[in-house]
Amino acid sequence: MARLNSPEELENFRQEILSKRDPQAPCISICAGAGCIASGAAEVITAFKAELAKQGLTTAVDTKGTGCPGFCERGPVVVIYPEEICYLQVTPEDVPEIVSQTIKEKKVVDRLLYVDPATGEKAIHESDISFYKNQERNIIGSNIKIDPKSIEDYLAIGGYSALVKVLSGMTAEQVLAEVKKSNLRGRGGAGFPTGIKWEGTRNAPEPVKYVIVNADEGDPGAFMDRALLEGNPHSILEGLIIGAYAIGAHEGYIYVRQEYPLAVENINLAIEQAEAYGLLGKNILDSGFDFKVIVHQGAGAFVCGESTALMTALEGRVGEPRPKYVRSNIKGLWERPSVLNNVETWANVPLIINKGADWFTQIGTESSKGTKIFSLVGKITNTGLVEVPMGITLKDIIYKIGGGIPEGKKFKAVQTGGPSGGCIPEEQLDLKVGFDELTKAGSMMGSGGMIVMDEDTCMVDVARYFIHFLTDESCGKCVPCREGLRQMHKILTNITEGKGKTGDIETLEELSEVAKEASLCALGKSAPNPFLSTLHYFRDEYEAHVKEKRCPALSCKELISYYIDPAKCQACMICARKCPAEAIDGGKNRIHVIDQEKCTNCGTCFEVCPPRFRAVKKISGEPVPAPVSEEERIISRKSKEK
Ligand SMILES: Cc1cc2nc3c(=O)[nH]c(=O)nc-3n(C[C@H](O)[C@H](O)[C@H](O)COP(=O)(O)O)c2cc1C
Ligand code: FES
Repeated sequence: MARLNSPEELENFRQEILSKRDPQAPCISICAGAGCIASGAAEVITAFKAELAKQGLTTAVDTKGTGCPGFCERGPVVVIYPEEICYLQVTPEDVPEIVSQTIKEKKVVDRLLYVDPATGEKAIHESDISFYKNQERNIIGSNIKIDPKSIEDYLAIGGYSALVKVLSGMTAEQVLAEVKKSNLRGRGGAGFPTGIKWEGTRNAPEPVKYVIVNADEGDPGAFMDRALLEGNPHSILEGLIIGAYAIGAHEGYIYVRQEYPLAVENINLAIEQAEAYGLLGKNILDSGFDFKVIVHQGAGAFVCGESTALMTALEGRVGEPRPKYVRSNIKGLWERPSVLNNVETWANVPLIINKGADWFTQIGTESSKGTKIFSLVGKITNTGLVEVPMGITLKDIIYKIGGGIPEGKKFKAVQTGGPSGGCIPEEQLDLKVGFDELTKAGSMMGSGGMIVMDEDTCMVDVARYFIHFLTDESCGKCVPCREGLRQMHKILTNITEGKGKTGDIETLEELSEVAKEASLCALGKSAPNPFLSTLHYFRDEYEAHVKEKRCPALSCKELISYYIDPAKCQACMICARKCPAEAIDGGKNRIHVIDQEKCTNCGTCFEVCPPRFRAVKKISGEPVPAPVSEEERIISRKSKEK
């Protein structure tokens, strides 16, 4: 790799790369994101290489392990260019057919296409799949086109052209003005205006300043930042270099959790490559601007995603939050002005510089501009990463992109904003996604977790689950969070176990108030959200648990019972054989009965009873019907078979 000494040299190098690539030549892109690797993508890549060699196509066809395009649930995902034919759940056994049919004969392998569950129609191209069709993938869309380990691939799709634009013709003030004009708001949590944050740091008198990437991503179920770092690390580096130039920083840090080994590997490699080409280091592209980046691996504490805790951890101390008497963009890392932005925030910067603030502000709502990546998980047909324009409704995300709720179940709520976010009910499905809109609805944008819940989800148990997570993750430094959350968790557990008492809801409200008002950091301040939002929208469920010892969703184990309906039981013995507690009595001609003393409420009988019988019943808040007499349990198989 030769150092590039000016913007012109970089552009010439890009042209040289492009001149060696034929856009019409076949290229097989195989997602090598963590999700697809877990479903066997590495074996698929090996199989493609072997098959291409076997069929004498190694030089004619390019194979690429790429970043995650988002549809992880249907991985390994394979896209064949230039036709953009998309195959899902590809196995090594499918590879010979793909090479013979699609690469050689230009024929589509029908059985590997996406089939729309609603219409039964097959989608050949990625852009025809309902999951992708309704997205606007400005940031994540490049993932499937490039090998994240290749800087040349990034350059080939126009990478580092925003940096060239900045270093060859924009002053730091102009860059800052463009970012401010774009109204870009931080994608990591609070939605703070990025330009204003940068301006504060730039104008701070202390000459040594820092820029930091927050890639801690501690929210359970969230993997947006991981996919960007793994799949397109140069885009984040490019944004960071531009930010550092605008602010006047010469040192940057990437704080990434250790549990993301592929992200760590790819970002380290990207830094090495950028250094080798002179895009990092001294006198970048002959601009006189120096900038270096250091990767710091976090040990995986949720609280370390909080700005002051993250900076304390970067300083080499225990990652605990500190009071923000002065904002960290003025007094942050080593008490110096420091801009901390989320991975996705940084990834937006090159786009804003390249396409302009006016382009960016055309997307989104009045107060939330651009797109947002969500990790759509839970009780939803299409699980994965989705990038949508701000202002899209929750309904469109869940039904048009997510494909609705599986197994014909009813939608109940969607949880947004990570563990300290809130649950939004069905009545609010027309809500437009935006920072202020979600906060108004009692939730928040957070960094982009979106967990869909169906009718079988107990909202009290959801609150208990998240408060438990936050109790565990509280750093313990301040009492309202450490003790308050612990008490909240105890009371919520009692309620879900049928030990709730009058006054519990009021105590929970009081503890929430104190945690919100008096906690040191935003972990404690926002921790009551899961309780408060579920209480607001689902108070009847709390009351049913406390007053009637009933779980309306039939989910809380201690509040439900199973019994076998004698009118429906066919004495098939399936449940009796499968019951791990040996709690079912019955024989070939004897209606089965569950011994309530032995039953552990594991639900196995409910799951295994054949759907055509549906003899096992689940109830809550009512007594189990008395079993029928011994004589009535004996069944004549002939009469049953009729
Ligand atoms: C407990 C807690 C955890 C957080 N975790 C993250 C995180 O994992 N990633 C992130 O970008 N922001 C996280 N934040 C928000 C950060 O404190 C900060 O606001 C954000 O990184 C700023 O970047 P942005 O302006 O680009 O959003 C967390 C906040 C709290 C209170
Ligand atoms: S990891 Fe392959 S689609 Fe997400």
